[in-house]
Amino acid sequence: MTAAAPLRVHAPVRTATPRRYVLCRPDHFEVTYAINPWMDPAEPVDRARAVAQWDILRATLEAHGHTVDTVPGEPGLPDMVFAANSGIVIGGLAMSARFHHPERSAEGPHFHRWFAGRDLRELRGAAEINEGEGDFAYAGERILGGVGFRCSLSAHDEVARYFDLPVVSLELIDPRFYHLDTALMVLDATTVAYYPAAFSPAARAVLAELYPDAILADEADAVSFGLNGLSDGRHVFVDPGATGLIAQLRERGFEPVPVDVSELRKGGGGVKCCVLEQHTRRDTTAG
Ligand code: ARG
Repeated sequence: MTAAAPLRVHAPVRTATPRRYVLCRPDHFEVTYAINPWMDPAEPVDRARAVAQWDILRATLEAHGHTVDTVPGEPGLPDMVFAANSGIVIGGLAMSARFHHPERSAEGPHFHRWFAGRDLRELRGAAEINEGEGDFAYAGERILGGVGFRCSLSAHDEVARYFDLPVVSLELIDPRFYHLDTALMVLDATTVAYYPAAFSPAARAVLAELYPDAILADEADAVSFGLNGLSDGRHVFVDPGATGLIAQLRERGFEPVPVDVSELRKGGGGVKCCVLEQHTRRDTTAG
């Protein structure tokens, strides 16, 4: 009798799908105010380095088969590079953002005008405070919504009605992770990675129930902005410092693609903050 071969569990084969993104070159990036704990106006910013890193981000996304649309930045609006905050686009419906801080409020109309020039089925400006994909993550049959620092439950309600999708509200409790996209990343319609301590106990319970197989990141990965990554279903564009998370992504069959935007960290943002995805609707009501 031959001994049984050791049981091997194979990671699933992951498939990338081509995506369409919105980015804004950091031509006017600087840190002149502090609206999150990462920002220190006394610390010098090397804008040329920020632009060079962003150029690599853009080229990397394109090299992986994705389309990048760019919004022109505006002088005096140094955070426009964080285009994730410009709005939410799902299946031809778009909602442009309404910013929490007065320092960023003028970005809303700029992004709105840009969306108005796109081929969209419908565009609306958010009535409630809503910083776009900073706090809203499209996850197939639902939208995950962050609440606590920048966004309120009434914004979740507005988003759920407009996109006709349930919004699962998740309370954020650590000021370093003030937007949902700094604490959680959607890898595909059924897989997420997150840093549990960034969430209230109630939110942790919801996440554990919805995503029992989630990748759990530790604090070191989270402060590296590892969760502020971007997945196309296979490739995960991620901060190179998030080494624990990168190893876990590999084990689960994803292909981490390190992208360093450390100069933009001075504004409190990473890879995902620089990118808004123009989602297609992956359910049966294709739009
Ligand atoms: N300085 C910006 C702010 O505090 C950074 C935004 C980062 N964006 C994001 N999607 N997390 O609003």
